[in-house]
Amino acid sequence: MNQTDPATPRPRRFAPGASLRGRIRVPGDKSISHRAIMFGALAVGETKVSGLLEGEDVLSTAAAMRAMGASVERQGEGKWSVHGVGVGALLQPRMALDMGNSGTSTRLLMGLIASHPINATFTGDASLSKRPMGRVIDPLSQMGAAFEASPGGTLPLMLRGASPGVPITYRLPVASAQVKSAVLLAGLNTPGNTTVIEPVPTRDHTERMLTGFGAALSVETAGDGTRTITIRGEAELQPQAIAVPGDPSSAAFFIIAALLVPGSELTIENVGLNTTRAGLIAVLRQMGGNIEEANPREVGGEPVADLIVRHSALQGIDVDPALAPSMIDEFPALFVAAALAKGKTVTRGLDELRVKESDRLAVMAAALTAAGAQVEEREDGLVIEGTGGDPLAGTGATAAPVATHLDHRIAMSMAIAGLASRDGVEVDDTRPIATSFPAFESLLDGLAGLDG
Ligand code: S3P
Repeated sequence: MNQTDPATPRPRRFAPGASLRGRIRVPGDKSISHRAIMFGALAVGETKVSGLLEGEDVLSTAAAMRAMGASVERQGEGKWSVHGVGVGALLQPRMALDMGNSGTSTRLLMGLIASHPINATFTGDASLSKRPMGRVIDPLSQMGAAFEASPGGTLPLMLRGASPGVPITYRLPVASAQVKSAVLLAGLNTPGNTTVIEPVPTRDHTERMLTGFGAALSVETAGDGTRTITIRGEAELQPQAIAVPGDPSSAAFFIIAALLVPGSELTIENVGLNTTRAGLIAVLRQMGGNIEEANPREVGGEPVADLIVRHSALQGIDVDPALAPSMIDEFPALFVAAALAKGKTVTRGLDELRVKESDRLAVMAAALTAAGAQVEEREDGLVIEGTGGDPLAGTGATAAPVATHLDHRIAMSMAIAGLASRDGVEVDDTRPIATSFPAFESLLDGLAGLDG
């Protein structure tokens, strides 16, 4: 009955299977999918999106934009049509906006609404309700919006937008594309210029896509890499046709599975390789991973290639903390690769992982340890002593399943650990996988010949 009851956890054992061979595609990029719907909802006319990720997080964004007056319709697999209302013309939603598990929906929409004459209530699931919103409340309050948040600056929260808002110049205190985007989106409907200074570059989809939609946005990069991004307010956005590239963060699980499972040679087609997202591939190559890029091209204004990944003997390394923002969502999967590498892998500078869908340092340390890996948890990273390619023991038949804490990336990472284990790994709940990668299990089962 678990299969059909959305309120009941769905545990599963991921056992070792066949080598991963053949060609696959991963779903559309989550960050770009959210933005395609939001920006389409602000452009007057029809925005057509293909390759949209139809995961729960993106559906939360779609529902919220509908609640504020846009028409957002599915026309076929990954094909969506958005009719926008125009910048400044979002409507007052009649009910609370339920953001589910999605931090991106919450923080970006807080930015959008902050400069509209709208009162909105944001709610979310148990994971999202623990995540810090103070990081967007601070700059958006400076722009004139008012907030009533739950203790600790969390959801549920109420937001009263300011119209007109006040333009600001804001230096990001944390490397966060969500905070950067929230301020820029508030700037869209604010008179004058709104500026974000980003000392450490983070994913730049908002900048690229807003420019594509016709906003006046400039980016200056200083000698030390600091980026200054300025948007001119009271923008008029033009509808676009957007092809969403495959999500490198979803590809990560299959890249690492193919590197770890002997005999694998897997082609993953159409993977987005924006440099602000491609840190994992650089790190895996440094570890000795054989990852080839074929057929490089552009999709939706983003660099894309097909990746050919072959089983490789991995070597532990010191991961350069400067790469962290360009692979921030990929650390849980990287920790699995490190657990099978030869020697020690040291990661640091990863404080942000403690405030993702779960505390990904603590949760991965516990899960990998339960699966037989040698892991030391430090304040800002994990130190992992790998097996040198031998499978992990896995979680025994009588052991408790590993706890995923409503975090899709923990569930998928530990599924891959199961493939690379002797006895398999039992995961307590696979439901959260649907937030970003609904087809993950069927794709994995098909490749590895598992029963599912
Ligand atoms: C995202 C930014 C990152 C990332 C998240 C998606 C985005 O979050 O972890 O999955 O689409 O802007 P932070 O901005 O909190 O680092």
